[in-house]
Amino acid sequence: MQNLDALIAEAKSAFAAVTDPDALEQVKARFLGRNGEITGLLKALSTLPLEEKKSAGAAINRAKTAVEEALAGRREDIKQAALKARLAEEALDVTLPGRKANKGGLHPVTLVMERIEALFASIGFTVADGPEIEEDFYNFTALNTPEDHPARSMHDTFYLLDEKGEVAQNVLLRTHTSPIQARYMRAHVERYRDRETMPEIRIIAPGRVYRVDSDATHSPMFHQVEGLWIGECVSFADLKGVIADFLRRFFESDELKVRFRPSFFPFTEPSAEIDMAFMGGASEGRWLEIAGCGMVHPNVLRSAGIDPEKYQGFAFGFGPDRLAMLRYGINDLRLFFDGDLRFLRQFA
Ligand code: PHE
Repeated sequence: MQNLDALIAEAKSAFAAVTDPDALEQVKARFLGRNGEITGLLKALSTLPLEEKKSAGAAINRAKTAVEEALAGRREDIKQAALKARLAEEALDVTLPGRKANKGGLHPVTLVMERIEALFASIGFTVADGPEIEEDFYNFTALNTPEDHPARSMHDTFYLLDEKGEVAQNVLLRTHTSPIQARYMRAHVERYRDRETMPEIRIIAPGRVYRVDSDATHSPMFHQVEGLWIGECVSFADLKGVIADFLRRFFESDELKVRFRPSFFPFTEPSAEIDMAFMGGASEGRWLEIAGCGMVHPNVLRSAGIDPEKYQGFAFGFGPDRLAMLRYGINDLRLFFDGDLRFLRQFA
């Protein structure tokens, strides 16, 4: 049956000519559909004489099977081709170098402040906090620095404007972390108001402070770490011991000299400036001022509601920026605040 072979060949090439599944179903109809060519041949069988019917019927059915197989094969081919195209399109190039996630790190001053906190925590100090926009009262008045006190002029700071654009009264950017002392003492007294005796105060308070000052060792914004220890018999000797011990542990060295140089702060009496020097090395004999300190003034205790006859203690204010300069050998304070990644990456 020459024409059946031709028909099969024609169906195969028609199937091969289409590439998408919908078009394939259209082509299928041409051969196998209700009005398709093979269906037509089967219908025509009835017109044949009986003896031809049998063999012709078998031949047409074989052809029909062949066309159906060709169709199924083509369907599978089209499906595979689509899959292959999709895989190619969505392929991952596993040889492509990865995109690096930028790794962050802590700022050297933050590292130093955390180190200070950890060292003081190890001798029973907890961390306290206060606002950077501070009330005039806590920054000065509560610290024995009344409005007409000349010490206020050493603390030239940034004042804030109110809604009318005028200098806001009673608030400023704090010039030191000492107002945290005043706030903490008041809160402490309030907390233990109904007790016969109150527990000791032993806090460390790191934070940003502001002054109008700018050169290689001063920046208009810098950091301080305030310390306060108030108890029934906390003395200047304790202050010296705590500070000397802290510095030796901070710099991991006993080759360190510490001196307390008499000084003045309105809120401590007596007051001292703490200087340190490394023994040996290039900087031998060069004293560096790193903190102010003293015994908390009775007026400051009284203002917080603490009886200075019963309680006394010391306070200090460290410059952690200076400690960071010493620890890492940095000669210009401004490097800390320029935000230059080449500098900062060295600490990450
Ligand atoms: N607040 C002082 C300053 O900024 C330092 C200080 C703190 C001095 C605590 C004595 C006690 O200069």
